[in-house]
Amino acid sequence: MCGIIGYTGKKNITDELVAGLEKLEYRGYDSAGIAYCERGKLVTVKAVGRISELKKLTDGLRPDSSCGIGHTRWATHGKPTLANCHPHLSYGGKFAIVHNGIIENCRQLRLLCESRGISPISDTDSELIAHLLEMYFEGDLRKAADKVAGMLEGSFAVGILCSCRPNEIYAFASRSPLAIGEGRNFCALASDGNALSGAETLVFLKDGESALLRPSGAEYYRKGKRINPQSAPFSAASALSGKDGYAHYMLKETYEQPEAAARTIAALSGIKLRGALSFIGCGSSYHAGLSMLPLACHACSRPAQAQLAGEFLCSERVKSRGTTAVLLSQSGETADTVAAALEAERRACRTFAIVNVASSTLTRVCGAHAVTRAGPEIAVATTKGFTSQVVAVAAMLARGTLAESTERLPFIMEKALEAGVSDEAEEASRLLAISPNAFFIGRKADYGVALEGALKLKEITYIPALGLSAGELKHGSISLIGEGTPVVVVHTDPRLREKTLLTVASVRARGGFVIAVTDDRDVCAACDLAVRIPSSDPFLSPAVSVIPLQLIAYRAAVLLGRDVDKPRNLAKSVTVE
Ligand code: G6P
Repeated sequence: MCGIIGYTGKKNITDELVAGLEKLEYRGYDSAGIAYCERGKLVTVKAVGRISELKKLTDGLRPDSSCGIGHTRWATHGKPTLANCHPHLSYGGKFAIVHNGIIENCRQLRLLCESRGISPISDTDSELIAHLLEMYFEGDLRKAADKVAGMLEGSFAVGILCSCRPNEIYAFASRSPLAIGEGRNFCALASDGNALSGAETLVFLKDGESALLRPSGAEYYRKGKRINPQSAPFSAASALSGKDGYAHYMLKETYEQPEAAARTIAALSGIKLRGALSFIGCGSSYHAGLSMLPLACHACSRPAQAQLAGEFLCSERVKSRGTTAVLLSQSGETADTVAAALEAERRACRTFAIVNVASSTLTRVCGAHAVTRAGPEIAVATTKGFTSQVVAVAAMLARGTLAESTERLPFIMEKALEAGVSDEAEEASRLLAISPNAFFIGRKADYGVALEGALKLKEITYIPALGLSAGELKHGSISLIGEGTPVVVVHTDPRLREKTLLTVASVRARGGFVIAVTDDRDVCAACDLAVRIPSSDPFLSPAVSVIPLQLIAYRAAVLLGRDVDKPRNLAKSVTVE
């Protein structure tokens, strides 16, 4: 995970790096640091905590160099401490490096360093890269970097600063995104192209490629030979925006959902998803696929399944030819999903990515892709990312009256926002905020939404919440239900009414407090508290029923004083497997 940045140009280097890191903070925010050259020596400035902590240390600094690298961390190897914070310096102080990814053979490399008398000072795999560079450096940075890159196993995007070339940055990457941006009198790198505002063109390094960045531009290499990779213009539309007066990005993004859905439906309705479908994703993106299974299987008569990206790699290699693997990912960078896409290609599936970031890795590794039009999503807990995926799948599958119902979804979503701020929804937030745990249940399309509702609550309130298929509750988990245990029942399909009523009765018989999120009058009447949502086609309802759940979780998090947009331990884009 983590985010890396690099800049060489004319501007104040500390300000440039910190501003770039702020745009990458969604990738990790437990510590951050920068490195640049000052009077021939490499200097690092590091802070544990948010980028704002680093900013306190760099404000007012005016180094004589305008070239440097920076990093914002999401801890994998070692705790978030100053020693583990990037950039890491080599033993002789000649190199500073920032790294995004995981070095799988780090134990062997650590032994190699130790056998040469070098004792790493951090617990990280990344520090070893700096030492190896100095170990193999014989005056030619590119040669040393190529040698070290060849020794690394795993995923990595690396930015290197060398004290002997203070205005240059060298970078290489494999299985980890790295964008190089060129603009007037500057050249920069970042693990997300969106962080390179001001750049006129962008190049994404392919596996095994490297780049030498100077203020006048970048040179690109593959296996030691100069190459001319294709560059794309930087799209200003993807630049990150502000909170527009909302208290949190999550709230703003929740309210943006109807518009995001309308844009997505308009853009993707002409595209068709072919063949048997296998929806693959992580977290909320998996839930989006899961909630669209009834639409694919029952309404559109397609063989379809939903799989967690991390488990897809381990699943049996069943016949996959003819199947379309639909890779769902807001960021398009999630490592498990990218790995699943590569595996699906190996299994001769068609691969089709549904992402919200046009320039992301998944769009490059999949055979085809569609981009949802949610706009930049900043809050770690996704809202419009989820509903945009749901409506994207609907727009590409639904025909006839279902297609007409899909077109109407944004209007119904507007009404669902009102349901999310009703007195009943507020009461639900208050109850959940003081509960030690909570359950979210639903069947068919509502099952995926129940999982998503539970995930939202867990992510931003830290309350243990279990999402379950309503039918599965009786097979063990019901033992956890006692007096007052909140159980949120999502119900949008009239064909399931009797089953839902039975489940509600069995929960209440054990003292559980049932909160319904439904358009069904009978279900409302049978529950302790009911959030009445507008009716929609049951195959499309996930885009609607999830909205009150997002708002309920949001309000509970605010009541608890949580850091809603940047919850502990999480990152928006998980770029490690
Ligand atoms: C992380 C986030 C989740 C998100 C998941 C998938 O784990 O914390 O909220 O759903 O990644 O992200 P993606 O960008 O692939 O949709």
